[in-house]
Amino acid sequence: MIILGIETSCDETAAAVVFGNRKNPPGRLQILSNIVASSANLQAKYGGVIPEQAAREQLKAIIPVIKEALLQAQCKSQDLNAIAITYGPGLIGSLLVGVETAKTLSMIWNKPLIPINHLLGHFYANWITPAHLRGVSLDYARDKQAHLGGVTFPCLGLLVSGGHTDLVLFEGHGKYKYLGGTRDDAAGECFDKCARLLGLPYPGGPHIAKLAQKGNPKVFDLPRPMILSDDFDFSFSGLKTAVANLVESDPKLILHNNPQRANLAASIQDAITDVLIKKTIKASQKYHIRQIMVAGGVAANKYLSEKLRRNLHTQIRIPLPQLCTDNAVMVAAAGFFQKPISNPLSLQADPSLSLLY
Ligand code: KG4
Ligand code: ZN
Repeated sequence: MIILGIETSCDETAAAVVFGNRKNPPGRLQILSNIVASSANLQAKYGGVIPEQAAREQLKAIIPVIKEALLQAQCKSQDLNAIAITYGPGLIGSLLVGVETAKTLSMIWNKPLIPINHLLGHFYANWITPAHLRGVSLDYARDKQAHLGGVTFPCLGLLVSGGHTDLVLFEGHGKYKYLGGTRDDAAGECFDKCARLLGLPYPGGPHIAKLAQKGNPKVFDLPRPMILSDDFDFSFSGLKTAVANLVESDPKLILHNNPQRANLAASIQDAITDVLIKKTIKASQKYHIRQIMVAGGVAANKYLSEKLRRNLHTQIRIPLPQLCTDNAVMVAAAGFFQKPISNPLSLQADPSLSLLY
């Protein structure tokens, strides 16, 4: 089977072609192309995503990106077996660009249309085998445990993206139990907001991670909200407020030549990852889990992955770093395990789609 994936839920315009057979061997998928056009330069200029601007850029990019994905995959529309499309959650203007394009292509090419929940889509980046990546450095293959591809159920899923932080218990494809999630800011959002307070560009997660390498994570005693709460929920807004108060009381902290700036970055990263890990351990113990998969942009954080491995004695799956952040490979991969919609024209973008059903 060959599936074209399309992803436009936030500021990226992405299309990918993935080849695979869901049964033999199970879960082995091969990337034929992976195109991601980002308006990140524009977002960096304004310190975040301006929804209308993102959608305008996506409208310009969507057709060239899909054409490029087919070209690089050396594949024609006739070769496709289906189109998988993210229909939510996300920014409504951005989602509409992808959903309406996918519906149109599904009609004119006469291909089944598979609607994908973006949040579930993130987890499917764990089904990609690095040995099959094209044009991507295989340096990551060093870390074999993380990148074997394929997942065995039951397994615990930790989603850590810019907009979501959720713990999910997967029993099978499309069969899962929602355990808990953030009550306010997501982990990625906390990285981004703290980065802004430190004068770092958007998106802030990778910048905090880089600065933190030079810092001591134990210098600032930052709060770990809800770390001991008797549930699987998270809260990160108090941590951000604590950082804002620190910076307000001592503006010299964020001067580039102040070594305390790196210490603060390291302490922020340590606090966020502490909470994520504590709740993940708690869930894995409660449900006697042997495998955990992490997904979403923050999964690209090495400090998090190393700390997870040190503290959890379970098998941990983390996607290749370039497949942690938004891409269409994960959407196409998810498409292998989900059913097409019977009437493609009835599909509606759903900005507030969640994992609860
Ligand atoms: O999953 P994603 O691409 O988009 C959403 O669906 O939200 O996640 C983006 C988030 C941003 O908040 C970004 O700062 C964060 O992922 N991120 C990281 C790293 N790379 C991306 N956070 C911490 N460390 C990183 N290396
Ligand atoms: Zn995402």
